[in-house]
Amino acid sequence: MRLHKYMAYCGIGSRRKCEELIRQGRVFLNGKQVTKMGTIINPDKDVVTLDQNQHLELVEEKIYIMLNKPQGIITSVYDPQGRKTVLEHMGWKGSRIFPVGRLDFDTEGLLILTNDGEFAFTMTHPKHQVEKGYYCVVKGLPKPQAINRLKHGVDIGGFVTSPAEVEYTGKSNGNAIFRLTIHEGKNRQVRRMFEAIGHPVIYLRRERIGNLTLGELNTGLWRYLSHKEVIDFKLLTGGKSND
Ligand code: URA
Repeated sequence: MRLHKYMAYCGIGSRRKCEELIRQGRVFLNGKQVTKMGTIINPDKDVVTLDQNQHLELVEEKIYIMLNKPQGIITSVYDPQGRKTVLEHMGWKGSRIFPVGRLDFDTEGLLILTNDGEFAFTMTHPKHQVEKGYYCVVKGLPKPQAINRLKHGVDIGGFVTSPAEVEYTGKSNGNAIFRLTIHEGKNRQVRRMFEAIGHPVIYLRRERIGNLTLGELNTGLWRYLSHKEVIDFKLLTGGKSND
């Protein structure tokens, strides 16, 4: 790779600015000053320094993806049992990314994949109370008292959930449809909440995480998050946008 391009990838500035720094004699390759334009380097072996004291390292490009996960694939980068993973489903051949949190094998909907560990940490850390919105079809028609239990907090086996927003949106073939918003992310939490009131989930889809919504993204498809979506999410969780 050409030296000025490598420097740009290290976040030093534009390629033109990097050429200028080389011209000024401020760049050193394996301890030797470089002034020749077009010098080729090996990023795996060569050591580049600026002003003899600033050691340059590649800045990894951050990747943020939204997948509308279909049923029947697992939220993992590898499955010892050989089941299809989200990355295989996407046909992902790019650099290392990983899913943030998980959706069950049979749950559809919004799943974020990234290589940004801090972003993932923020999204899943209970401190940030990021809202998650689910569309749920449950068996039978829960009585108002049962729905109130969900609203106020229900014991799902050693853990009492925080108050949730529950909106009944209608029924289909004698089964009720709800939109549920929670701030927690316990394992199989939504399924366990409805099980606790005696109305197991038949179909579950996550539609929202904080400001991120599935919108028009069809089941099985994925897209990159926009710059604005990433910034807004960071701001929502009290982080700095770095912009
Ligand atoms: N709650 C569940 O029960 N399952 C999911 O996949 C996500 C939330």
